[in-house]
Amino acid sequence: MDNDKRFVTGLDVGTENVRAVIATVSKTGEVAIVGYNEGKSSGMRKGIPANLTGPAEAIDRMLGDAERMGGYDVRSAYVSINGSTVISTHTEGMIAVGSVEHEIDSEDINRVEDVAVSGRIPANRDVLDVIPLEYALDGQGGIKDPLGMAGARLEIRANVISALTPNCENLKRATITADVKAERLVPSVVAAARAVLTERQKENGVAVIDMGGATTSVAVYEEGDLQYVGVVPAGSNNITNDLAIVLAIEPELAEEIKTRFVTGDFNSDKSIAIKVGKNGERAFERKEVEEVVKARLEEIFSEVRKKLKAAKYDQRLPEGIILTGGGAKMRDIEIFAKKVLEASVKIGIPEGAGGVAESVKKPEFATAVGLALMAAEESQYSEPDSKKSFKKSKSTKKPNFLKKLFSKF
Ligand SMILES: Nc1ncnc2c1ncn2[C@@H]1O[C@H](COP(=O)(O)OP(=O)(O)OP(=O)(O)O)[C@@H](O)[C@H]1O
Ligand SMILES: [Mg+2]
Repeated sequence: MDNDKRFVTGLDVGTENVRAVIATVSKTGEVAIVGYNEGKSSGMRKGIPANLTGPAEAIDRMLGDAERMGGYDVRSAYVSINGSTVISTHTEGMIAVGSVEHEIDSEDINRVEDVAVSGRIPANRDVLDVIPLEYALDGQGGIKDPLGMAGARLEIRANVISALTPNCENLKRATITADVKAERLVPSVVAAARAVLTERQKENGVAVIDMGGATTSVAVYEEGDLQYVGVVPAGSNNITNDLAIVLAIEPELAEEIKTRFVTGDFNSDKSIAIKVGKNGERAFERKEVEEVVKARLEEIFSEVRKKLKAAKYDQRLPEGIILTGGGAKMRDIEIFAKKVLEASVKIGIPEGAGGVAESVKKPEFATAVGLALMAAEESQYSEPDSKKSFKKSKSTKKPNFLKKLFSKF
């Protein structure tokens, strides 16, 4: 391994599966995936650790192969966080910075961010990220990056992403039990967005929906910034469970039916039987399966739509919706989602990395790839020189209090 390269790791700790992506980053910032793996998760409930040993063992088991493949012993990683306690709050802050000729420096920016956060976010929540949406100098708004500008009063409008502190703590404890330090926690849908969205989509307005086993999270981007994050506490496993109950069959069979089922337009005229089992020895009426799948999918997408509506993004997404996560693998789900969400829907495939990236170009790997890409990007610009921070993009900036937060570990 030449010394010009660094290793980064993305670790997606899901309710159903754990996934890792190990990548190298060249001096010029090129990311090459060198190791990856996935395995069954354990001890997670609706995106949140229900105990520490379950997820720790699952991570440990799964990481072994990824480490051997990448020739690297993972000690730290960017880790996904999920669950309905992950929320975004829009806040504002204002500080006086001195005379009118005062040149805004990164310290001023950190200070106004701190003001926008302190007292606005309940004490039992950890702040995961602060996304500056707009700055104003002496009352003049619409400023995207005030660094180097002159002014006496600096204001900020920001989107603060937070999650309940016990959830964050327990997730960090679970990874550290597996000997992996969580360098940063990122909402799983935000990490997925990093891997599947283009800059143009983020600029024009787009939503990412990450449908996992037990959660369905949504993130909205506009004007290049993350505007909204929300999590619906239901996912693709609910379809399996419903099928098992209604058809009175074992969950394994219900899972097989689900993976064979084609959602599409739910045209019951094509009512053919779905054959499952080793030699197709059991057949189920398509119409019966259809009713169950349709009801649950409709419910999940309606909940997502309610969240988009509450965030005022319903029917305001020129670039439509991108679906990721294992739930996005249900055949023709995008056709059905389009009807319920009344927007164009596409399946998101993770991009932006070389190496063995072909093997992880699947919607369920979007979060792990996105985490590795974020780790690559952020550590690349980690020099403490404040002047250099002028060049870094807003999204790669880690606020001061985040550094404080993670220095505890
Ligand atoms: N081919 C397929 N067709 C339909 N569903 C599928 C397919 N493959 C996987 N799934 C479903 O995807 C779900 C798992 O997705 P994923 O691995 O993204 O979840 P997770 O990240 O562990 O969960 P969460 O994000 O909710 O914590 C399961 O419900 C599984 O049945
Ligand atoms: Mg997930």
